[in-house]
Amino acid sequence: MSQASSQSQPDTQPVIVANQLSKHYGEHHVNALKGVSLTIQPGEFVALMGPSGCGKSTLLNILGTIDRPTHGQLLIHGQDVFSQDEKDLTRFRREQLGFVFQFFNLLSTLTVAENVSLPLDLNPAMKEPERQQTVNAMLEKVGMAHRADFYPAQLSGGEMQRVAIARALVHQPQIILADEPTGNLDTENGEAILNLLKNLSQEGWQVILMATHSEEAARYAHRVIRMKDGQIRDVRHG
Ligand SMILES: Nc1ncnc2c1ncn2[C@@H]1O[C@H](COP(=O)(O)OP(=O)(O)OP(=O)(O)O)[C@@H](O)[C@H]1O
Ligand SMILES: [Mg+2]
Repeated sequence: MSQASSQSQPDTQPVIVANQLSKHYGEHHVNALKGVSLTIQPGEFVALMGPSGCGKSTLLNILGTIDRPTHGQLLIHGQDVFSQDEKDLTRFRREQLGFVFQFFNLLSTLTVAENVSLPLDLNPAMKEPERQQTVNAMLEKVGMAHRADFYPAQLSGGEMQRVAIARALVHQPQIILADEPTGNLDTENGEAILNLLKNLSQEGWQVILMATHSEEAARYAHRVIRMKDGQIRDVRHG
């Protein structure tokens, strides 16, 4: 079922429909999510805000299928993702989702270009010249083509995050999940990353979900969802 969506087709149905998601950590008696429902349309850039511990990362991880909800249902392009077996779910995640984290998570022994090309391993049909062209085009897009042969340790934080975004996007996932993507960046680099995400979402079909503590960062989003205590409290449409 991994071919459930095709980005070449115009899509009118929601990309994500979450119904009453809850997450209970039994051994710690923590209700991290208490019945969260939301619907996200193609091309939406959504910011998740709220105090530390309110459930933003938990929700992102469930929407990103890294974590399973205790109750509730997640439909991505109409498909009940958690009803798949683990193998199909892993494939679905690798093909359809891109992740950007606060601490970049680049592999230190690989160059910039090698890091960015990793998600393309999934597609053995893509051979060398095309692979290299795809990586170069993505590095151009994030303004990092001139650093293709550098190692992560030779980059600034903002540069590392641009490379991480290139890696998250290179296989053209439907959904980008970004957990505090500007949390470790200064204002200028943070703005560059946010502009990049905004431009991507304006290209039309990619969904971006970003958890952030920054009101400035949330201004770039079309919609701000505010959470408190494991629930959605307020939604603002930009
Ligand atoms: N593996 C776990 N086991 C038990 N409790 C957990 C686990 N992961 C998260 N929690 C708890 O769930 C709640 C929500 O955590 P979450 O990481 O989603 O918050 P957050 O909104 O992302 O916070 P922050 O802004 O600090 O990143 C917290 O109270 C946290 O302690
Ligand atoms: Mg978090």
